[in-house]
Formats: sequence, structure tokens, C-alpha cells
Amino acid sequence: MFGLIQLTSKLSSHTSGTPCFTAMSSDMTSSPPLGPAMGTENGGGRAGSIKYQLAKLVEVSLRAVFPEESNVQPLIAVCTAKFGDYQCNNAMGIFSKIKGKSAEFKNPNSVGQAIARNLPYSDMIESTSVAGPGFVNIVLSNKWVAQNIQNMLSNGIGAWAPILSVEKAVVDFSSPNIAKEMHVGHLRSTIVGDTISRMLEFSGVEVLRRNHVGDWGTQFGMLIEHLFDNFPDWEDVGGQAIGDLQELYKASKRRFDDDPSFMERAQHAVVRLQGGEARYHNAWQRICEISRREFDIIYQHLDVYLEEKGESFYNPYIPNVLEELTRKGLIEESKGCPMDQKYQEFLCCLNDLLLLSRYRLNIEKAEWIIYVTDVGQAQHFDMVFSAAKASWLASDVNSGLYPRTNHVGLEFLDEAKSRSKAELVKRLGDNGKLKEWTDEELEKTAEAVGYGAVKYADLKNNRLTNYTFSFDQMLNDKGNTAVYLLYAHARICSIIRKSGKDIEDMKNSGTVVLDHADERILGLHLIQFAEIVEEACTNLLPSVLCEYLYNLSEIFTRFYTSCQVLGSAEETSRLLLCEATAVVMRKCFHLWELLPFTNYRSTFSSSGS
Ligand code: ARG
Repeated sequence: MFGLIQLTSKLSSHTSGTPCFTAMSSDMTSSPPLGPAMGTENGGGRAGSIKYQLAKLVEVSLRAVFPEESNVQPLIAVCTAKFGDYQCNNAMGIFSKIKGKSAEFKNPNSVGQAIARNLPYSDMIESTSVAGPGFVNIVLSNKWVAQNIQNMLSNGIGAWAPILSVEKAVVDFSSPNIAKEMHVGHLRSTIVGDTISRMLEFSGVEVLRRNHVGDWGTQFGMLIEHLFDNFPDWEDVGGQAIGDLQELYKASKRRFDDDPSFMERAQHAVVRLQGGEARYHNAWQRICEISRREFDIIYQHLDVYLEEKGESFYNPYIPNVLEELTRKGLIEESKGCPMDQKYQEFLCCLNDLLLLSRYRLNIEKAEWIIYVTDVGQAQHFDMVFSAAKASWLASDVNSGLYPRTNHVGLEFLDEAKSRSKAELVKRLGDNGKLKEWTDEELEKTAEAVGYGAVKYADLKNNRLTNYTFSFDQMLNDKGNTAVYLLYAHARICSIIRKSGKDIEDMKNSGTVVLDHADERILGLHLIQFAEIVEEACTNLLPSVLCEYLYNLSEIFTRFYTSCQVLGSAEETSRLLLCEATAVVMRKCFHLWELLPFTNYRSTFSSSGS
């Protein structure tokens, strides 16, 4: 045990008796532009996103034309004008650096011309043109786009996984508190954390999925004492008997607040627990086990995998870190009540600080540590990151882009309940279609739609903005909802089924051709999948992917309206485009852990056939 500890003025603007870390502006919490990992070949056969591949070509040109500007990184963007598919935006920046030094380059346009002229040959580029102040517009070759799609169909969607410049990340998510209810903030963290983990894993990053459960702290004193009082033979009674931990928590808290002698006993219990006394340790373990069982039911339901390393796991590391902080003059001891709220907050910060520095950076050697919690904890993480930066981590943390830490703050939902089966039955009843459905179909669809709707609503909304939760909106089959996307996917599957062709055979024998303008637009959107995942990962915004998929289904509809698929001369190529669209959609569903259903049935009168 240690007394109340304060950070000294170096790190803290504390008023007397208020331990805290100063929230200093921390550039670690903002997102540095990561961009593609230039020069690294950790792609393992993946070509990387289109932007990544173009950047490699542009890099060759830049090094050849401007060898003395070796720090300039290629700037590639999707073309905003009609003149190309992508554009290189380096000319103006380079011109401002070399202005006056070179007779050859009189304006940014001439720099752009030189970049375009010196691009190495590549079959991905059809043509280039230089516009205005040196924007190099790049038109991709139709044939190359088509081949790229065919390659993905033969080798799987992994061919379109992006290449990121980070190899190992910790994602700290879900993290409920023992003996307390897992509230909607934890649920959202579980959903968003899982998707972030999946996106990073898909991109080849090793992800340590960490459940930082609140399993340590002074509340255990009161819980254990209350347990001993009410279940003297608690070791023999099953978990069932003491199962309602929330009740136990509430009752013990009431006693703690009302009864000074109980409060005293509870405080002593904390000391005995932290001192490792067996009876207290066992009771603590039993309480944690019961909570864990309850949490696991939710994880199984959501099919989320996490590795529990709770607050207590890092306990053995505390003395060393304290010693180090003290030696560096960063903290000082003072007197105070260990049950004090401020003390709790301080312990929480300390716990996070040491786990970040000692464990996650030094032992686990993670380059990127991502915390997914409700937005209310933003200040806490600001303090932790600032303190970590200001103390012994300063030099490590500031070196280059990594190590990097981010807090993903989530706003609370007003309401979250799955009502999809009732909704489905009602709608089917209204349409007189209920009898066409088997129970199993009903169950499966309700599950896919219901869970999917909640998850998707969570992911789709840019987590940085607040939003109103509306179940009606989530279950709407029009607009950007999971239901709409799941049906769009099922409809594509039914087109393929109706053709009567074996799509696997076609992948090997058929050829994708992108002659029609709407075929090309669809093809281009498809091959942009890798850079969208890359953007969603680097900015930690799953909503980017949601938007992409919604656009994909709209672009697909346009293609399907203007290009006849079944029975046309281009049937094979167009069926392959349908399949590629479905594959991309399924990958997104997988990243979001939505369950796709392939059997399209007209449930909603408005959604047509
Ligand atoms: N248990 C905390 C809560 O429920 C969340 C913990 C988040 N992770 C962390 N390393 N602090 O609010």
C-alpha cells in the first residue's frame, strides 16, 4: 500500500490535496498523417492500395527529377476534376522549395510536367495530363482495373488489404467494471473496438485485443465485507446464490455510505486484499469470476474475442514505476484518505500511465495503442498521454510517427434495444407474407437485421459527432442502414443465382471488361476498397467504410439499371462484376461483424423485388 501521492508542479497544477495529472496539450492524441508505408515491404504479396502503388511510381519520378529534395513524400489523391482518376499534388510544394534555385522550373506547372514525364512505365497508367499549378492527373488503364478485379476474384479479398506502416497495435476496448453493469458505453466500445481490431488485422497488423476490466480498486473492500456478512459460507454456495453482483454492489455501497463502522471495515478489507491475505484474495477472485461469466455471454453473442488483462494484472508493476517517478521527482507523498474519490482517480491515471509505458510500450512493444471508451474519459486520457510524454517516455514517444496513442471517444446512445423480430413479424404480417417464412428463416433474418442494425448505426455515425438514436431509422430499408445494405447484397446474390452459372468456374474462365461508362465507374470504386480501409484504420473512423459501402451499392444500382446482366452478350463479365461487388460487401460485413443473408426475400413491400 502507498499513501496519497501527488504529481509535483512539473506535471501537475494541483491544488493542495488534489492529485492529478495536468492536461497538457498533447499532440499524441491527434492523428498524424500516417499515409502508406513507403518503402516497407510488409505487404506479403499484397500490392497495396491504388494510392500506395501510384505513390511508388511518383516517388521514382521525384527522386530522379529532384534528388536534393529527398524528404518530399508523394502526395496522391483521388481526382477532384473529370480529367483523371487520381492526381499527384506535389508540384506546388516542391516549387516553393526550389523557387529561385533552378532556372529550369519557372512555375509549378513546369514542375508538374517534369513529374509526369519522369513517371516510370506502368501498365496501370493509361495517360497523364498536367493542369493549372502542376496537378498531375492520372487516368488508370481500363484493362489494368479489370485485371485487378479479376485478380481479387481469383486470390480472394486479401489481395485488396492495404499496407499500413505499423506492425503491432494494442486495442483497449470494452473494459467493463467488475460487479457493475456493462452499460451501453461499454457495449459501443465493444462494437467499435472489435471493428477497429478487425480492420487492422485485415491490414496485416498484429492486434492485441485487450479487455482492461476494472477489477481492482477500493470498491472491493466494501463488496467483500458485505459478501462475508451476508454469505458467511460463500466459499460453499454456488455462484448462483451470490450471482446478482449489481445488487450486492448497490447494497454494499448503501452500507458504506450510511454506516461509518462498515466504512472502516471496508477500508481495512482493501488493505488486507492488497496485502494478499488469502481469504480476501479468494473472495475477490470469486466476485471477478461471476462478473466475467456475465460479460462472456455478451461477447459470445456479439462474437467478439478479447483477452482479459484487467487493472489487477498490472499491479505488480506499480512499485517499480512509483519508485522511478519518485526518483525523477515527478511525484510526492502526502496524507489522505485512500477511499477518497480523487485518490481513486489518481490511481486510475497511475494505472494507465504505468501500463502504457511499462507494459504496452516496453514489454508488449506495441507501436500504436488505441483506447476505445465513452467520450467522458477524454480528459483522463489527455492527462495520461501528457504525463507519459512529459516524463520518462518523452524521447520515445516523440520519435517519428510511432509509438502513437489515440483515444477513440464515443458518445452515448440514448437508447439501444433490439426489436427487430417483432418489427419483422409485424411488417410481414401487414404484407400477408408471414406464412411464406419458415421459423428458422425468420430467426436468422431477425438476428442479422437486428444486431446488424444496432451495430451499423453505431459504426456509420462519425464517432466525433453526436447523434440521436432511432430504432425506426436503423430498421429503415431505405437510406444508409444495415438493412438496406444487407438486402442490396442479397439481391446481388440472387442475380448471380438466377443466371444458373457456376460463379467459381467463371472466375477462372471469364474475363472482366469495363467498356460501358457505368461498368468503369463500378470497377474503379471496387478497386478503391484498399485505400478506404487504410483511411478508416489510420483515422480510426469505421464510418468511412460505411459510407464507401453505401456508395458502392448506389453505384451498383446505377450499373444494374444501365447495363443488362442476364442474357446479355457481356453476361460473364457483368456477373463477375456482381460477384466482386458481393465479395467487397461481405468483407465489410465481416469487418463489422454483420451476418449477411444471401436469400433475398421481399419482406418490405416498398423494397421491391
Ligand atoms: N473500466 C473503465 C470504465 O468502465 C474503462 C477502462 C478503459 N481502459 C483503460 N485502459 N483505462 O470506465
